[in-house]
Order: sequence, then C-alpha cells, then structure tokens
Amino acid sequence: MRIGILTGGGDCPGLNAAIRAIVRCASADDVKVIGFKNGWLGLVEDDFDELTRTSVIGILPRGGTILGTSRFNPLKHEGSIKTLKANSARHQLSGLIAVGGEGTLSAARELFEHHQLPAVGIPKTIDNDINGTDFTFGFDTAVSVVTDAIDRLHSTAESHHRVMVVEVMGRHTGWIAAYGGIAGGADVVLVPEHPFRVSRVCDLLINRKQDGRAFSIVVVAEDAHPHPEEPFLSDDACARIYRHDRLGGIGEMLALEIERCTGIQTRVTKLGYVQRGGSPTAFDRILATRFGIKAYELVRGQQYGQMVAIRGNKIVNVPLSEAVGGLKKLDEDIYRVAEVFFG
Ligand code: F6P
Repeated sequence: MRIGILTGGGDCPGLNAAIRAIVRCASADDVKVIGFKNGWLGLVEDDFDELTRTSVIGILPRGGTILGTSRFNPLKHEGSIKTLKANSARHQLSGLIAVGGEGTLSAARELFEHHQLPAVGIPKTIDNDINGTDFTFGFDTAVSVVTDAIDRLHSTAESHHRVMVVEVMGRHTGWIAAYGGIAGGADVVLVPEHPFRVSRVCDLLINRKQDGRAFSIVVVAEDAHPHPEEPFLSDDACARIYRHDRLGGIGEMLALEIERCTGIQTRVTKLGYVQRGGSPTAFDRILATRFGIKAYELVRGQQYGQMVAIRGNKIVNVPLSEAVGGLKKLDEDIYRVAEVFFG
C-alpha cells in the first residue's frame, strides 16, 4: 500500500506534527508514504520525496511544513487534473491526505467527487474558519502569539497613556481577534462579523480615560469593516485594505481616526506573519497528531471523501462536503464574552 500527503494553502504551526503522525502510523504498517511538495502543485509536477521514519525525526516542534506549500489550485489550471490523476495512478496511491484550509479542502472534495481521487482531508489554519470542526491546528499558536503581544503592549501603553491598536489576521472571520482579545484583556475587539461604529469605539476610549484609565488596547481583525452608517475610509483605502488575496491595513487607518477623534496618542502594531510562524503550542501539536492518526485510519479503511475533525474532545470524521463551501463564522457566544470587557 502507498499513500500520498500534501500540505496546501498558507502554512501554520502543527503541519509537521501531522505529517510525522501519518508517517509514523504508516511505517508501523509498512506502508510507503509519498510527500508531494508545495501542495497540489507537487502532485501535478510529480515533485515528491518519499517520507520515512527517519525523515520525520525531530520535526514535531518545528513550524512551517517540511513539504513546502503553495496556493496552487488544480481546478483553475487547465490540464492539471488529468496530469494529477495520471501521477496518482502511477504512484499507485490508495489514499491521498490533503492537509489544508478551505481552498485545499475544496479541491480535495471536487477531486474526490468528480475525479475519483481517494482523498481524505485534514483541516489546518490559524484562522479557525473551517466548518465541521470545532478547532483547526495553528489557531491556538496564533492566539498565544497575539496574547503575548497584547501583554507586552499593555506595559508600554500604560507608561505612555496611549491607545494601542493591534491588527491581527483571521481572513474573513474574527476568531483570532476574539480569542486573542479575551486572553490579552483587550478593551475593544473589532471583528468582521460585527461592522463597527468608530464613534462608539472613540466614546469607549474617552470614557476609559475619564475614569482614570488613560491607556487602552484595541484589537482589530484584518477584515473588520466600519459600519456603513459611519464610513471613514476612502475608496482608495478600502481597495488597499480589503484586497481579495491579501488583507491588511485597517489598523493603521483606525489608529489615525481614533487619534483624530479622541486626541489620545494612538499607535498601531500589525502582528502579521509572526502569528503563523514558529513552534506550535502543545495543544496544536496534540491536535495535529490526533488528526494525522485519524486521517491515516480513514485512508486504511478506504473511507475517502472525509475530513477529520474535533468535536468536543473527540476526533471524528465528517464529509468533505460538509466542511467546505462556506466559512465558519465567529461563535456569537465567544463574541459576547469579549464584549463584556469592552470599555
Ligand atoms: O489563512 C491564513 C492567513 O494567514 C490569513 O490569516 C491571512 O489573511 C492570509 O493567510 C495571508 O495569506 P498570504 O500568506 O497569502 O499572504
């Protein structure tokens, strides 16, 4: 038996832990593992390494992915599907484990449903926006980075009596912002799910100052939007901030607006890619390991077209079709917890 693995989309901490788990299970069964490089591109270009027990030594705590990744989508490149199927057949793959976010898993679903690729999915992303699973690995590490950054920003904000705006990732959802904001004790958290009124944000900050709390932390998700009734971004700024393939910049514009409206010195920190790099937390290592083992079991049992998931503390499988085709928005209960501490 031979199985393939690939990691696609943005990288995140925990990918190597998942790869290691799959390879360790496979080698115990004498199953050969082909690691395709750079996501779906590796399967199309037949760019691969055989992964053995030796090749995964020491990778558990390492961030990134030893296989490399890309956002290449075979469904969008003519001829790719035919080549990919031919390569899969030539390698005699009896299963292909695709580790990725929405884009990678959507391709896995399509290739399984319409092209008989024996695909199984593992959800990963710092954004935690995949349906069908309570958590993706990478998210806990990103939240830890945000929490640590907010802790550090607190002391300098307090010394200078400033507002600190912290821009975080999360793509179209506010999971990182809300969890990071709760853990770090943010005074305001702005998420894509709730367009914000800048007047309300400024009132909160002014009230805090009048109450003797002369510093504040505002966490803003990269895709948070001003409420349509209170726009303050020019069309040019919107086009720059809310790009389809790359978000970022709302923090800077928000900081300028806050300073203009409140007169309080305001600074901005855009956390960017540090949220995605580095060593996974223990939680992410364990989740990725459990996902890897479950994915291997699904392939062995020929249960294709499935994605591994965590529900409560149980590792389960759900149809890939349930996981893709929409993003998992921030849980309203979590948002309400963050909101308790606004102001
Ligand atoms: O999906 C993970 C993520 O880090 C998002 O939070 C962010 O918007 C995006 O990827 C950045 O993508 P890229 O690596 O293509 O710049």
